[in-house]
Amino acid sequence: MSSDTKNTPESQLGEVLERRFERRRLLSGFARALPVAAMAAQIKSASAATPADAAAPGAGAAPATASAPAAVKDFRLQFNSTGPHKYDFINVAEGYRVGLLIKWGDGLFSDSPAFQPETQSAATQARQFGYNNDWMGYFPLPANDVANPRSALLAVNHEYTNPELMFKNYAGFASQTREQSAIELEAHGLTVVEIMRQPTGNWNHVQGSQYNRRITATTVFEVTGPAAGSRWLQSNADPTGRRVIGTLNNCAGGETPWGTVLSGEENFHQYFSNRSAVPAGPVLTSHTRYGLPGGNGSYPWARHYDRFDLAKEPNEPFRFGWIVEFDPYDPNSVPKKRTALGRIRHEGCTIQVARNGRIVAYTGDDQQYEFVYKYISNGTYNPYDRRANDSLLDEGVLYVAKFNDDGSGQWLPLVQGQGPLTAANGYATQADVLVNTRLAATALGATRMDRPEDIEPNPVNGKVYIALTNNTARTDREIDKANPRANNRWGHILELSEDAGDHTSTSFTWEIFLLCGDGNNPAHKAFFAGYDPKVAAALGAPDNITFDSKGNLWIATDGQGAGLDGINDSIIAVPTDGPERGLTRRLMSSVPGSETASLVFNADDTALFVSIQHPGEGGTWTDDPSKSISRFPTGSLPVHPAVIVVYKDAGDPTVGT
Ligand code: FEO
Ligand code: CA
Ligand code: CA
Ligand code: CA
Repeated sequence: MSSDTKNTPESQLGEVLERRFERRRLLSGFARALPVAAMAAQIKSASAATPADAAAPGAGAAPATASAPAAVKDFRLQFNSTGPHKYDFINVAEGYRVGLLIKWGDGLFSDSPAFQPETQSAATQARQFGYNNDWMGYFPLPANDVANPRSALLAVNHEYTNPELMFKNYAGFASQTREQSAIELEAHGLTVVEIMRQPTGNWNHVQGSQYNRRITATTVFEVTGPAAGSRWLQSNADPTGRRVIGTLNNCAGGETPWGTVLSGEENFHQYFSNRSAVPAGPVLTSHTRYGLPGGNGSYPWARHYDRFDLAKEPNEPFRFGWIVEFDPYDPNSVPKKRTALGRIRHEGCTIQVARNGRIVAYTGDDQQYEFVYKYISNGTYNPYDRRANDSLLDEGVLYVAKFNDDGSGQWLPLVQGQGPLTAANGYATQADVLVNTRLAATALGATRMDRPEDIEPNPVNGKVYIALTNNTARTDREIDKANPRANNRWGHILELSEDAGDHTSTSFTWEIFLLCGDGNNPAHKAFFAGYDPKVAAALGAPDNITFDSKGNLWIATDGQGAGLDGINDSIIAVPTDGPERGLTRRLMSSVPGSETASLVFNADDTALFVSIQHPGEGGTWTDDPSKSISRFPTGSLPVHPAVIVVYKDAGDPTVGT
């Protein structure tokens, strides 16, 4: 996040908030912070883990260390890679350590009930940290302190639920109770939680902070932008098409310069059932393109809630698949679904303020052969009045990317009346275009990509990095220069340069930054921006990314074991410039079944927060403990999704150096 995009405004509201925050801080000091959670057996340092790694089945998949030349430039990372492994503990590179920040079921409010997973209810879950934490955003406290490294709000997505891990002896889809479905709804959404660095240097979450909040699949949202109120969004329960209950499958996200949270609704389709009951016509055509299930979805919610049954509410899916925005500093703010940014399986949404002051938002559609998008606001960012920015994500133009084989590319506008997006082709209004973004982008000839996950501008070099997680369906006949491998099991990362360095440009150049895989296995055809592949740490399935303040790229992986001998997911760091451009290093390895779903630094890079999502997935929680594959992070069952913190032990405490 660049300094200009972190330039939180000093509005009247901001000043009021600042005074409130400051008074609260003075009154409370550090006394409200929770004690440090005991470190469990599932979190180990490299020194403890390395001997085991040497014998680990996955240890041969990559060199255990990448040689790190002596530091001569700021952008050089200096740690040696920790080895990959398959064990049920987290290990980090030598010189680092890991702490626990918050886990599923932890109380957020002063009246939150203690977590009792065997007697969990929807009412208790609604007062606790949700399930399957994914993306995280760091919002400094007080609101106008852009660089506070000690106090912040952490906004956290809760993407989905694993009933087989949440409910002991779960009997399956057909037997799921209404209360279990209700618990799942409350375990989805987002959490806002105050976090604080203690004098010891450790971070804790603050139970009972006035900022703490849960947003769930039952929270009321306002719909804004060109599709608000359109016939597509009207349902029996909401004839206005402007008031939606809940958010679903919040995967990645972003932070706006005016201090709001953006969160992408990704795989919303899987919560619905019975597309086959929808009559032929535009609604069915759209639902088919978006993969709505013909019969049962992945969740049995349609049995308990009419809105998830397409036979009863055929328009309900049009009310999901959007970017949502809300103010984390105001726990009473009504979250909004911003339809101008299109309806896709949004991975995330990251913001760059262009030189001319317009807001540029990058977002991807995470499915095989789907597209990369950006949005440019009509208006310009006002750093002096937060509220003046409220319509920036409602009024603007959405574009989709076309990558040419010669290294050039165009952003194609998704605007009603332009090109093929005419009434004759079914696009009579801009709502028709935005609700059916995938269909409109296909009509424009956008490039079909290998599952676009996080897309983020580098705050130092200005280039945009696009994580394409994998695509095992792509055939030799389908490869192009931007998606150059058939059966792409390892994924890749593109580096996009907007023409003239102007983020509002409609043309760009691009190149391959990484072709992931094991550089010691020629069959992978791995490429590390020209760096010697034999000393680069193997990685696969790049998903969420972030940058440290020096512009180094940090990568969280999701399912890399599928292409790398079953190793657990990792955090990988790689310089984007300088002599070590392309040299990947493995900072951390996670636990079985999990992905390292997201990562974000605090304001001075002394702490790296990492989201450990769906640990133990593939196992179950039953009376037979051998059916589970992880006891993270407590050492006992049930396994808990959790946010951890990586610290530097000695020397310069900056994590990246
Ligand atoms: Fe939720 Fe595309 O990862
Ligand atoms: Ca993701
Ligand atoms: Ca990111
Ligand atoms: Ca993913």
